[in-house]
Amino acid sequence: MNTQHPTRAPLRDALLPFSIPSIGDEEIEEVVATLRSGWLTTGPRTRRFEAAFGEYVGSRHAMAVNSGTGAMHIALTALGIGSGDEVIVPTFTFCSTAHVVAQTGATPVLVEVGDDFGIDPEAVACAITPLTKAIMPVHYGGQSCDLAQLYEIAARHDLAVIEDAAHSVGADYHGLRLGSDRLAPEGVRRVTAFSFYANKNMTTGEGGMISTADDDLAGRMRLLTLHGMSHDGWDRKEGRSGWYYEVLAAGFKYNMSDIQAAIGIHQLAKLDGFTAARRRIASLYDEGLAGTSGILLPIRHPDRTHAYHLYVIRLDLEMLTVDRARFVDELRAMNIGSSVHFIPVHLHPYYREEFGYHPGDFPVAERLYSQVISLPMFPQMTENDVADVLAAISRILEKYRK
Ligand SMILES: Cc1ncc(COP(=O)(O)O)c(C=O)c1O
Repeated sequence: MNTQHPTRAPLRDALLPFSIPSIGDEEIEEVVATLRSGWLTTGPRTRRFEAAFGEYVGSRHAMAVNSGTGAMHIALTALGIGSGDEVIVPTFTFCSTAHVVAQTGATPVLVEVGDDFGIDPEAVACAITPLTKAIMPVHYGGQSCDLAQLYEIAARHDLAVIEDAAHSVGADYHGLRLGSDRLAPEGVRRVTAFSFYANKNMTTGEGGMISTADDDLAGRMRLLTLHGMSHDGWDRKEGRSGWYYEVLAAGFKYNMSDIQAAIGIHQLAKLDGFTAARRRIASLYDEGLAGTSGILLPIRHPDRTHAYHLYVIRLDLEMLTVDRARFVDELRAMNIGSSVHFIPVHLHPYYREEFGYHPGDFPVAERLYSQVISLPMFPQMTENDVADVLAAISRILEKYRK
């Protein structure tokens, strides 16, 4: 048998993609109504979406923006973080969690994660210096980090917490939704940033949301979403302000349009149904893969509910004669899509050259990177789709198990 190239015949006629957005008639009709309404940019639908989202997560202030990245950038800027400051970021994340820190002029201080993919609280505590201003935990794949420990550290060192919840809308920690005002202890400034990018658990095509309990921070973040202007166009149209506005900060152009919010309103209403469907698929994967030698299942914590943005298996490489890249190619040869989350930030040339990181700096993250595969996961997946993925994995294991 040729072991140099994927040799498997496709299991299916067409590719099973890693992810497909779930868009229904409600979203389409609302977008059409928006297009016909005469108001396309930030306006009544964005306000409706924000109010519904704030209620869903349990937060006083929900602000819609045009990406999860923008949400984090605004939060750091509103907190006054910039040159000379340090912000602690896990290395096992998407590059933008670290980019936004660099964009403010502050230094992203990368730290290690655990086998559950969450930022390691001990590593956070060790990385704190007099320059540290904030921690950015990433709720990887749909499961919350250990927030109790992280908030305890933040309170002790007077640090702000910007939670990157790009993957985790709808996930709970200790019975509270991520983004809830009740997650952070009194006195700790918290901002939670969500992403509605096309493959996320709910989408607006591109988009994001910020939640916080802090009135002052909320006011500054609201200002920063739209050029630092004291009034937006919708206020002027509605007669809540005249033509005159003042620019109070060098703000960004990160506002959400009503076309995006039109999609978001209906995605949010369907979110719990989407999450339930994702959980059902995860439990089918769990059943099919339990006890399979060569495959390690995702680590789940009983004090958190998982929103399964991703279902990430790890290859037990000591049991196999195949590496992760080859495993992905083999899946693809059988028409099964997959993805890899993430290439650790410290391995990217920009972070090595600009901040002096090297391969070997974070052994857990690097080992995880060599092991992880994100299997197809989206609400419309059928039991047959899951069975195809499981059959493909089992064929690859037959070929490559030691
Ligand atoms: C962990 C994480 N953080 C942040 C982002 C950025 O979100 P957005 O694409 O909405 O800017 C992503 C996007 O995939 C992500 O995976």
